[in-house]
Order: sequence, then C-alpha cells, then structure tokens
Amino acid sequence: MIQRDLSEISKYEKVIVELGSGDGRLLKKLVGEETSRNTLAIGIELDTSQYEKSCDLIEKDSMHFINNSFEVLLPDFPDESIDSIIAVLPAPRYIDNDFQELWVPFYQIVLKKLKETGSLILVTELTDDLFQPVSPSDFVAWKYWLESVFKSIGFKLRTIDGVPSHFSSQFLDQFKADPERIKIVTLIMRKN
Ligand SMILES: C[S@@+](CC[C@H](N)C(=O)[O-])C[C@H]1O[C@@H](n2cnc3c(N)ncnc32)[C@H](O)[C@@H]1O
Repeated sequence: MIQRDLSEISKYEKVIVELGSGDGRLLKKLVGEETSRNTLAIGIELDTSQYEKSCDLIEKDSMHFINNSFEVLLPDFPDESIDSIIAVLPAPRYIDNDFQELWVPFYQIVLKKLKETGSLILVTELTDDLFQPVSPSDFVAWKYWLESVFKSIGFKLRTIDGVPSHFSSQFLDQFKADPERIKIVTLIMRKN
C-alpha cells in the first residue's frame, strides 16, 4: 500500500490496523467476522517471509499487508482515522519494561491515530527470567504496571486475563500451550 491509498482511508466506514501481523491469520479471521462490508484491513509486518505468507491469505481488495515497520508507517496515517489497532504479542522493543522509554512515544502516536470511538487491543505475555512458573504476585504487579503506563499515555482501559476467545494467531497458539510459564493478558484500551 502506498501513500496515495492512505489518503483514501476516509472512504471506508471502518479501518482496522494490525501491528506485527505475522503470517496474517488473525487479520484474515477478524475480516471474516466483520459485519461492516466497507472495512479496510491493513497488517504491517517487518519480517519478509511472514509478510509473504500473509499475502497468500488476501481475498479482498480491502485487505492489505505491508512489509515495513509499523513505527515508520503509523505516523503517516491521518490523525483520528483508525477504528481498531491490534497488537498481538508485540516484540519486547514495543512492550517490555526495559524499553519503556522507547515505546511510550510510539503508543502516544497510536492514541492520536485512533478515532474518538476507536480502540487499541494489545495482547502481551509475562514470563519468568528462568522460565519457571510465573508467581501470582508477579503477575498482579506486572498487570498493575502495564495498566498504569497505558493510563499515563491517556488510554482508558480494562484488562482481561488471557486472550479474547475469537483471537488466534501463530504465536498465540504456541504461547497458550504453556499457561503456567507464559501468562497472557489483553488490554482493551479506548480513547475516551
Ligand atoms: C511475537 S511475533 C507475533 C506475530 C503475530 N502477531 C502472532 O501473534 O503470531 C512479533 C511480530 O512482530 C513483528 N515486528 C517486530 N517489530 C516490528 C515492526 N517495527 N514493524 C512491523 N512488525 C514488527 C515481528 O517480525 C514478528 O512477526
């Protein structure tokens, strides 16, 4: 997808963007479940082999995969143009405590790109450094930290343990198989 197409996104009733769309299977599923016929779906994936797999899933002109960094592309979207931004198991650079100073500015841009009624759905995981089972207290403290950071960015949010039942992806299917050592939460975040 090129710049010219981005200027056309206002023609769509609904716009969904997936960050780090991997092999594309989640975006394809979500598009299949979509009730609005006039929906534009864009998956952005840096890894070329994953991107190529996702392109094999395209069935509609309104579904696009882009082989680039979402950090480079997202700022080009018009402000308040996206209904739903989805990030499933983002790379550590975009969610880990150690990199917080690097990723907070990115999610500030995410917030600007959402429509007033839009949402960011972010699924992420906690593991123990030695890959032992995650303790309940560590899990609670981690969720509290995540919520407080995203609230400080300006999101209103609720957190659910685990993954929305209609979500499945290559990495989710692997991670869900080890629920003691890989604790997953979903943050459902709104602008207002
Ligand atoms: C853990 S995988 C999750 C993939 C997919 N969401 C899933 O659940 O199967 C993280 C993905 O993010 C992609 N990624 C990392 N940084 C990226 C960036 N800056 N822009 C686009 N994709 C990125 C990686 O190539 C990888 O495919």
